[in-house]
Formats: sequence, structure tokens, C-alpha cells
Amino acid sequence: MDPRPIGVFDSGLGGLTVARAIATTLPHESMIYLGDTARCPYGPRPQGQVRDFVRQIVAWFAHKDVKLIVIACNTATAAGLDLAQRTLDVPVLGVIVPGARAVVQATRTRHVGVLATQGTCDSLSYPEAIRALDAGVKVWQAPSARGVEVVEERLASPAAMGRDWMSDRGAFDTPLVRAIAEEDTAPLRGQGIDAVILGCTHFPLLKDEYQRALGPGVRVVSSAEETASEVVEYLERGEAFAPAIMDDAGGGEPAYHFATTSDELGSFAVAGEYVFGRKLALVEHVDEGLLERLG
Ligand code: DGL
Repeated sequence: MDPRPIGVFDSGLGGLTVARAIATTLPHESMIYLGDTARCPYGPRPQGQVRDFVRQIVAWFAHKDVKLIVIACNTATAAGLDLAQRTLDVPVLGVIVPGARAVVQATRTRHVGVLATQGTCDSLSYPEAIRALDAGVKVWQAPSARGVEVVEERLASPAAMGRDWMSDRGAFDTPLVRAIAEEDTAPLRGQGIDAVILGCTHFPLLKDEYQRALGPGVRVVSSAEETASEVVEYLERGEAFAPAIMDDAGGGEPAYHFATTSDELGSFAVAGEYVFGRKLALVEHVDEGLLERLG
């Protein structure tokens, strides 16, 4: 048994889709989540810079006594997972191998698509991870920038307040989002693709729109649940599950602690609730300058 929290981070709020899947699958595990909102988006940045951000953030987590770190950001996983794994004693998991596994399991035609940021596509991490699982799978990539933008807009809008994206999905069904989904998925149509991985943590929020654009014959999958399964496997192997938390009434909640590089803690908490599906009670500000000094 290991009661220490799991560290989870993303360039912003999108990684809360992964944190949510972990919280649902492992209801006794405590978590510390860091969203690097002040430096979001990572997608268009050079890989070397994103690698530096990963180095800084895992150094921050190293001081937090976490038992495991999950890089809940595809762009950061592509740029810095190997570096983090080589430099830390704490184990580090990313989202790309779980995403690759999910799409390989979903395809029958062995023609698959990857919808991700420019940085993730340029790294070729998904095609490599997919071919490591099945060398015969053909992969098409489609970089998207505007998908992240429209999700960010919704997260910043007062209309999202007190809501949960899982029951607010119609909110993204607008002519603009339909057009973006058509444009983003254009490179993936007409190739015999029957499974697409949403290789960006923001995109599960646009799943319905991408599904509509790709058509009913394509399975659209995300890495969140598969990543949560990988966390379960890791904790099982290390016999590192947190003990069940029991209060006097036989219930009990694990501790969730949130941190962001943004100065707008209130907005982070509101938008975070929309993605995580629960109130973000504790939100701490982490100074970018501190992260830079750590890395
Ligand atoms: N979290 C990023 C990812 O999964 C998307 C947002 C960004 O570009 O920072 O790739």
C-alpha cells in the first residue's frame, strides 16, 4: 500500500480529462494536478522548449513526494517523456502509448488516423508507437490547432460555469465547430480508416463533432481510459494502491490538489470543474519563474 498521491500534469486544463478517468477508475487515489495554463498552448511550440517545460514540471513534482507521474498531455509526452523517465527515480507514464493501444485495439481495417497538435504530429510519436504494437497498421496524421482554440473559448466562457462537459456536449455543436471538424478530419477521409485516436487532451470534448465529420463507420477513441488502465497496471505491479479511505460513516474522499501557472485561480477552478466533473476545492498558484529555476 502506498498512500502518496499521483502527480498529473498538462499544458492547461485538457489533462483533466485524463485525471477524471484516473479518479473514476481509482477512487481511493489522491492526486496533485498541475496545469501550465500560463504557457498553454504547447502544441505550436518547438519541441526543445516543450522538453524544457517537462524537465521543470517533473522537477516540481519530485519535491511533492508523488508515487507516480502521468504526463497527461500528448505534446509534452512526445517531447519529454523519455527525458523525464531517464532523469527521475519516480516512474513516469505518458498518454501516447495508451492512445496507440486504444486505436490499434479499435481498428479492423488496420488503417488508422491521429488527430493531434502540430507538435505531436511532427514528433511522429503516434505512428511509431502504433507500429511498435502492429507494424502492419497504416497511419495518417491530421494536425489541428483550431480544435484546441474552440475548447479554450468554451472553457473561458461564463456559459460553462457550474456545468460538466459530459452533459454539455451540444455546446460545441455550432457551425464554426462543424467547419473545424470537417477541415481537421479532411486528411483522414477516403483512406479506409476505421479508427481515429484523439491525440490531444482537449479533443475528447469535441468527440461528437469529430465523430459526425468522420461518419458512423469510424471509431473515435481517446487515451484517457487506457491511460487510467495503465496506471492501474503500474500500481498493481508495485503493490502501490492507496488504502481505502474510510471516514466514520464508512465513506471518505481522496485528496485532490490542483495547481496552475495562471494568475486567474478562480477561472481555472471554474473551467477545471467543467472538465474534471467535480469542484476544484484547492487551487494553488505556481510561479513560472520558480519552475524555470527548478529545471
Ligand atoms: N494538452 C495538449 C495536448 O494534449 C493540447 C493543448 C496544447 O497545445 O497545449 O497535446
